Amino acid sequence: MSKKVNGKVIDALLKPQSIAIIGASNKSGKIGNTIVQKLLEGKYGGKIYPINPKDKEILGLKAYPSILDVPEHVDGAIIAVPAEATLQVVDECGQKGVNALTVITSGFSEVGRTDLEEAMVDKAHSYGMGIMGPNIIGILSNSEQMNASFAPLLPLEGKASLVSQSGALLIALDMATFTRRVGFEKLVSIGNMSDVNFGDLVEWLDQDEKTQCIALYIEGLKKGRHFIEKCRAARKPIVALKAGISEHGAAAAASHTGSLAGAAKVYKAAFDQAGVIMADSVGNLFDRTLAFSLQPPMEGDNLLVITNGGGVGVLASDAAEKCDIPLKFAPKDVQTELKKHMPEFGSAKNPVDITGGAGVDWYYESVKYAYAHKWVDGLVVLYCETAVTDPIEIAEGIHKAITETGLGKKPVVVSFLGGERSDQAMQWLVENDIPAYDAPDKAVCVLSGLRQYAKICTMDNSPFKIYDHVNRDQALNIINKVRTEGRDALTEIEAKQVFAAYGLPVAETRLARTEDEAVELATIGGFPVVMKLVSPDILHKSDAGGVRVNVKNADDVREGFRTIVANAKAYKSDATIIGVAIQEMAPWGTEVIVGSINDPTFGPTIMFGLGGIFVEVLKDVTFRVAPVTNKQAFAMLKDITSGPILDGVRGETRRDQEALATVISYYSQMISDLANEIAETDANPVLVYGEGKGCKIVDARIILKKK
Ligand code: COA
Repeated sequence: MSKKVNGKVIDALLKPQSIAIIGASNKSGKIGNTIVQKLLEGKYGGKIYPINPKDKEILGLKAYPSILDVPEHVDGAIIAVPAEATLQVVDECGQKGVNALTVITSGFSEVGRTDLEEAMVDKAHSYGMGIMGPNIIGILSNSEQMNASFAPLLPLEGKASLVSQSGALLIALDMATFTRRVGFEKLVSIGNMSDVNFGDLVEWLDQDEKTQCIALYIEGLKKGRHFIEKCRAARKPIVALKAGISEHGAAAAASHTGSLAGAAKVYKAAFDQAGVIMADSVGNLFDRTLAFSLQPPMEGDNLLVITNGGGVGVLASDAAEKCDIPLKFAPKDVQTELKKHMPEFGSAKNPVDITGGAGVDWYYESVKYAYAHKWVDGLVVLYCETAVTDPIEIAEGIHKAITETGLGKKPVVVSFLGGERSDQAMQWLVENDIPAYDAPDKAVCVLSGLRQYAKICTMDNSPFKIYDHVNRDQALNIINKVRTEGRDALTEIEAKQVFAAYGLPVAETRLARTEDEAVELATIGGFPVVMKLVSPDILHKSDAGGVRVNVKNADDVREGFRTIVANAKAYKSDATIIGVAIQEMAPWGTEVIVGSINDPTFGPTIMFGLGGIFVEVLKDVTFRVAPVTNKQAFAMLKDITSGPILDGVRGETRRDQEALATVISYYSQMISDLANEIAETDANPVLVYGEGKGCKIVDARIILKKK
């Protein structure tokens, strides 16, 4: 937490000892009236102090003209006065010694009044107070019986807490807790996040004994790295719905990496690193929250599905495959035992089809055996409503089988498909700690989340150890020289010099300003060579006819030099042409790309993928917020679809993945160290050779931040 936002501040927001409502009103329908009314209705146990300049009493409570007139200490204050009146009110709260402010008022940064918002935060901080909001609906806490908001009711009681950036959505979800039977301990509206942000709340809720699962609705993070750090440190499951993940800004990017790095991919990478499980819809957020609130993680990959309907079994199989927990046939002993609890025409494979005639006994026996069996890591029980069975009885049978074996040992989720009786049965199951869903794919999907969470719990969290072989000053000198020349793009040679300062294996490349120099350099280095245009104004050299490969002798070098310069002039008549780079002709290797962007939310972010000229078409890339350890870099190689290419295909040997992981890790330190300078980079292609033979960066690009 930041210095100002500490545990005491969040205590005063989420479980205040006493509350003043500034802007409390007797006028029904006003927000300042509703909040007092809701605090009273919820039976909040602390003292409530309505503050109003004129009225002596509000909703039966003694009111005060100013918070300064309250005789006792006030822990938290809710501010519901118009935006222009907030500074004075915040000042009075500070004088009074209030610990934290819940600012309901709108009209700040969300409408361009960032100045007012900053002034309010500065004032609060000058008194050591923290701020939730502004522009929020308030805070609801079941254990405090505190509805400090203008939402109608405290949510259905439960073991999860939800933090939402959208106030309206929070109110809607509050009411949906009753219809969807997903309970919450706390609902927190976070609004503009002028001070308290998601990371602070994750840290606090992780310590809150009433919260088992943290659910987040995020529109945009303000302190991305702080969020990753706090989520990674948390010991409770965190599930997040991120809104606004449409790709944007890609067209304007100068590098391949920039054009491939949309908000969705970077957020996904950051959430993965933070150990946050993503929900893809409001419904999915609820479904996952319910499962995390009631069930333990799934410690292995063995999922067993028991069903009375072949169709829903197939749907579950499909969903399992899609969600990365594909079904496997159960071992022989499991099949033999399960066969005893189904007719001859049933199937004991997986899904286990106990058939449409299955009554409560068959459900009970098969669920009990399967749940207790050590091969089974997670169980999905499906039921289609039939005329020969009663959904409530089936639900009770399933519950009995699980509780007799020991509910909570491993995850179990249920899906009932049918009418009203099935809905009632599912409601009963949820009330008795077994999550139930109205579709088989939902049940399987939440179980895959529980599997994902088990993997998160064992995730490699080892810190990045800074490499000391690097020469940061040398890299900065090159960058500074480029800046003094008024450029924001390094030439390929300069970019390779920066890479080399970080120990990255670049193909040897020298600048020839004249034909004679070109011949001399090629002769010294040895033929064949690659020749490439060097111009700060033409970044995509191939498009301008600025590249010649496999140039074998002096005459061809001369001819190549003339042609490259002529092509460049024809391509862009006013381009500054510095010369032609003479580069060693690196032997063939598997082409990959390593690159980076400086993300506005998460800062330096590294990309790895299959490289070469098709990278933007194939888009087979993966991202990580930098820096990354060697081990994390290695994991990136496995992320991409074409990752197996690096294991060697069609008679090729395994590629030098260790060397490639090292390149990615060094690269990640480079972009972190130089984050104040570098906007985007590409190393494309990076040629990866056979085992023990390393890699070579053949082309390099660095675009600086505009200053
Ligand atoms: N100290 C104490 N009370 C004060 C005050 C002060 N310095 N200044 C004004 N008040 C009182 C007013 O007299 C009024 O009481 P009254 O009804 O008895 O006259 C009360 O505070 C409210 O002030 P008013 O000027 O009537 O404002 P309002 O109720 O119309 O609107 C807000 C105030 C905060 C609700 C409004 O500015 C706002 O921001 N609305 C949007 C909030 C929102 O939707 N947030 C969530 C977004 S998701």
